Amino acid sequence: MTSEVRRAAQILRAGGLVAFPTETVYGLGADAASEKAVARLYAVKGRPGEHPVIIHFASAEQAFEWAREIPEGARVLAKKFWPGPLTLILKRSALAKDFVTGGQDSVGLRVPSHPVAAELLSLFGSGVAAPSANRFGRVSPTTAAHVREDLGKDADLVLEGGASEVGIESTIVDLSAGPAVLLRPGAITRNQLEEFVAVTSEKSSVRHSGGLERHYAPRTPARLVPTHALDKEISKLADRVAVLAFSRPDERVDFWLRMPRDPQAYAQRLYAALRELDGAQCEQILVEAPPESAEWAAVRDRLERACRQA
Ligand code: TXA
Ligand code: MG
Repeated sequence: MTSEVRRAAQILRAGGLVAFPTETVYGLGADAASEKAVARLYAVKGRPGEHPVIIHFASAEQAFEWAREIPEGARVLAKKFWPGPLTLILKRSALAKDFVTGGQDSVGLRVPSHPVAAELLSLFGSGVAAPSANRFGRVSPTTAAHVREDLGKDADLVLEGGASEVGIESTIVDLSAGPAVLLRPGAITRNQLEEFVAVTSEKSSVRHSGGLERHYAPRTPARLVPTHALDKEISKLADRVAVLAFSRPDERVDFWLRMPRDPQAYAQRLYAALRELDGAQCEQILVEAPPESAEWAAVRDRLERACRQA
């Protein structure tokens, strides 16, 4: 692997694009200091230029060079959760240019834990801008095969790293303007964060594409259905539906994926499952709604977005 990773670092240095595994989802990386590389990254993603992108580092020490006026809470969270599935939004330093912050005075920083990501970032030695390695608005990739399916030859190299362990994007906490705001729920829960910092429910004013209404969406229209209504919905559409559910398959339905009742295990499989259901090319995807409890918040967030119609 190491020689492949060395080649990846060289491609980044030359302004190229490298898809790499992280513990959350696969990212499409570019040198965060290169305007040209980041412009190409946005073009390949089909992402609007005014959207900020998360910058990845090998260590908190490197990451914090891209920020200023770092509050104690950020240092505490970094110490506790980095490397790992947490992104911190902080006031930017002069290193974070407009083309990675969407022109905002804040910057998004993350130190991922996946060993291949860690090796790549440490060889590269600076910040790597990386959104999920899919086209804008589509389901994020959790395997190298997903990335190739989506991006084809648009990535100069795709590093292999197995299936992402967490399976959904990092938890994002905004500490750029006083009290911590949870911008995007993820594997690190609000409860876990609140052991270390107070987290407000106030809406943050920063722009973020995870905040767009419809995101992480399959092409087939998808709908969230409460458990008690599932049977009735299936009778209406019968063989024209694909179903994602906790319960046992219904014999009337050809495409049925059974999901685990544990939120971490569910998250890990979620995006691969949505891709499979999409591939069934049915008229509609029905998703059995997960529980309302706090530990399901991140999964519910992704499912609600996947099921919101454009
Ligand atoms: O798990 C993840 O976070 C994945 C993997 C590849 O690390 N990355 C990812 O990146 O999801 P991206 O670029 O798609 O996330 C962008 C989101 C924005 O929608 C926004 O919520 C937040 O990160 N963000 C990034 N930079 C920001 C900034 N300067 N100010 C405010 N929010 C920012
Ligand atoms: Mg994304």
